[in-house]
Amino acid sequence: MKDVAGVYRLGELKDRIVEIKGVPTGIQGLDGLFFTFKRDDKGFKKVPLGGIPQYAVVNLTGVSDTGKSLMAEQFAVWRAGQGDRVAFVTVETPAAFLSAGLYERAKAYGIENTVIDENIIIVDAASYKDLRENLPALFDTLAYVYKNYRADYTIIDSVTGLYEHKEIMARVFVRQIFNFLKKWYQTGILVSQKRSSHEELSAEAAGGYAVSHIVDCTMVLSKKTIQSTYDERLYRKPIGELIRLFRIDGCRMCGHDTDTHILNISDIGLVSIGPSLKEMLNKKEG
Ligand SMILES: Nc1ncnc2c1ncn2[C@@H]1O[C@H](COP(=O)(O)OP(=O)(O)O)[C@@H](O)[C@H]1O
Ligand SMILES: [Mg+2]
Repeated sequence: MKDVAGVYRLGELKDRIVEIKGVPTGIQGLDGLFFTFKRDDKGFKKVPLGGIPQYAVVNLTGVSDTGKSLMAEQFAVWRAGQGDRVAFVTVETPAAFLSAGLYERAKAYGIENTVIDENIIIVDAASYKDLRENLPALFDTLAYVYKNYRADYTIIDSVTGLYEHKEIMARVFVRQIFNFLKKWYQTGILVSQKRSSHEELSAEAAGGYAVSHIVDCTMVLSKKTIQSTYDERLYRKPIGELIRLFRIDGCRMCGHDTDTHILNISDIGLVSIGPSLKEMLNKKEG
């Protein structure tokens, strides 16, 4: 039945199956949160992936100033530093300002600018309206980047910026972007904005749950201020201080940690994932 489009016997797909491998992110504390399993004569064994799953389209969502852009930039700089090509679609920050941020991340990591100069290809949808408002134009440009620069990674910060006045269309947009990234075997990070009215650590992004339903993996970032003596004891921070939290809401491609973790942003602007709240509580009691 080879002539009927879209129908395959399972066994026919063997040469197209993608092996689940981890892609190190450079974000301290994150890579250990994904795993797969092996089966031997003693039973099942958890095997750490050591990164986000390759070929996954990951949704990074949270309200403003939770660290989404920093994480996306860190991932881009870290991969570029390892010799990979990264396409970075900037929708909110014009290219020149994004570059400054990328060099800051590189400095913090101790990666030479010359190493990342060749490997990060910026697509400036913040400055070019057509790229921002016309999805086929953006896809044509990205296809050009994949063919000419051999990029394997795509960051879009943010997808919300691509449907700003058409949130009702979020699902259609995200589905098309997802399919496009899959077609090109990209490992992708889609940053999406949450509204402050959305429940803190839910995966809901502007445009509703559309984004998380479609992508392979959703990570949620949030922030809160210390407001009670209970908070003070749990987080070991004084009243009024800001803390940030992180959780992997779901990942369809592999196993993952489900706890809520502390998210730290260091003085040199590097995001890292800290202990889970469970660990904080145990430490407090212990
Ligand atoms: N270089 C830096 N050093 C220290 N903190 C920083 C630095 N850059 C950003 N931050 C902090 O990180 C926060 C999150 O930044 P960002 O990733 O841009 O947020 P988002 O993309 O989620 O809106 C900022 O509001 C700021 O408090
Ligand atoms: Mg941002």
